[in-house]
Amino acid sequence: MLNPRHSLTLRLALIFALLAFASLATLGVALYHGLETQLIRRDDAALIGRVDQLRNLLQDSNTLELIRTRPALFQNMVGNHEALLVVGEPGKAPLVVVNPTSMALPQLEPISADQALDLSMVQHLPGTGDVPFAAVSAMVRTDNPSTGLQVMAGRLMNERTAVLASYQVSVFLLASVAAILLALAGYFLVHHGLLPLRKLARHTQGIGVANLSERLDSRGAPVELLPMIDGFNAMLDRLATGFAQLSQVSTDMAHELRTPINNLLGETQVALHQPRSMEAYQHLLASNVEELERLARMLDNMLFLARTDPGSALSQRQQLDAQDEMQRIADYFEGVADDAGVTIAAQASGTVWAEPMLLRRALANLCANAIRYAEPGSVIEAVAIPGLDGIELTVCNHGETIPAEHLPKLFDRFYRVDQARARSAVSNGLGLSIVASIMELHGGRYGASSTGGLTRFSLFFPRQ
Ligand SMILES: Nc1ncnc2c1ncn2[C@@H]1O[C@H](COP(=O)(O)OP(=O)(O)OP(=O)(O)O)[C@@H](O)[C@H]1O
Ligand SMILES: [Mg+2]
Repeated sequence: MLNPRHSLTLRLALIFALLAFASLATLGVALYHGLETQLIRRDDAALIGRVDQLRNLLQDSNTLELIRTRPALFQNMVGNHEALLVVGEPGKAPLVVVNPTSMALPQLEPISADQALDLSMVQHLPGTGDVPFAAVSAMVRTDNPSTGLQVMAGRLMNERTAVLASYQVSVFLLASVAAILLALAGYFLVHHGLLPLRKLARHTQGIGVANLSERLDSRGAPVELLPMIDGFNAMLDRLATGFAQLSQVSTDMAHELRTPINNLLGETQVALHQPRSMEAYQHLLASNVEELERLARMLDNMLFLARTDPGSALSQRQQLDAQDEMQRIADYFEGVADDAGVTIAAQASGTVWAEPMLLRRALANLCANAIRYAEPGSVIEAVAIPGLDGIELTVCNHGETIPAEHLPKLFDRFYRVDQARARSAVSNGLGLSIVASIMELHGGRYGASSTGGLTRFSLFFPRQ
């Protein structure tokens, strides 16, 4: 009945109604049974009283005489209280029979004359239709003990049936009215109670990219809604941060792409201005290729940053042998290092809890930098030192000291110490920002130091 798509208000109103009806009906049924028991007891007591009265009356020999001679008179005297009244000597035709509804005479074992009557002696028999019938049969002590007289009185409980029936109707009417009233009250109460929720919904509808700094107002909101409002506001905080980052990235990107594209465009336009020698064209194309390669690498890196899915990256973390990983990077860069006239020495122990591809990418970016900035003939050291709460991986190279003021900014996107290199085909300033994102993803730390010609980049991966 309660389809989940029904409104909460309607559902609660129906539940209210159902509960009201069920509890009132239960109460009504319990009271009905109580009342019924009381009425039966009262009716039985009246019947017993009546038979007692008849016993006393019939003990008198004058009365007996009157019955024998003038049964009709006696009948009128006792009146028509009963649905059934039979007086007679056992085994003989009855002297008096009052039976207006002409019911079949029930065969009851009479209570002996010297036994006092009580409620347990009333016999409850099936009556006519729905109306119950109760009867008592008793012997009467007479002057002539040999004969004896039997009296039987029975009553149809019309009055009781009517009272109970009207009671039943009242209970169900009352329960239904209460259910309807409660449903209406519940509907309006819930409708009113949900007012703050509708207000919030209206407010959220107004929040968009243009006013992402707006927050939902928790003042005056019910306590139950506070966690939702706080959660929503926290989500807006995260979205605003992410959005700011994204727009920063696109601004940076547009800015970074402008220079190389302008260069390409300018140089090509100049070259096309007048006929050039074959060598000049070749030179131009070679330089264009370098610039385009750099653009391609930049886009590749930007895509890598954008595509890395934190959820799946984190779920693919594993325990990796630090020595294996360091050695793998050293081997991978062997050729490039040879060309630059440097050597890479890997020395590590312990394990790293990381996503393999991302770890390798981070180490590769550090090694590429180290090779690029190392003094020819020097040794680059790739070291891993396991600690209590994680492992520290460092890549050190000898070369020009990086001025201290640059150190905190090295990990920013597109940041290069030597801005002149910005135009070089090799430097995009993205490598370390990728390292930073990878470390943030792993909940680790990263840092750079540079003193006395020794530049050291360190990555700290926490234990599992
Ligand atoms: N080992 C190092 N020695 C000296 N300077 C370094 C070293 N590593 C990085 N830097 C400085 O930090 C800057 C940022 O490095 P990052 O790796 O982010 O970019 P990049 O190497 O210039 O370009 P990309 O890695 O995107 O090709 C570099 O331009 C360089 O100035
Ligand atoms: Mg780099």
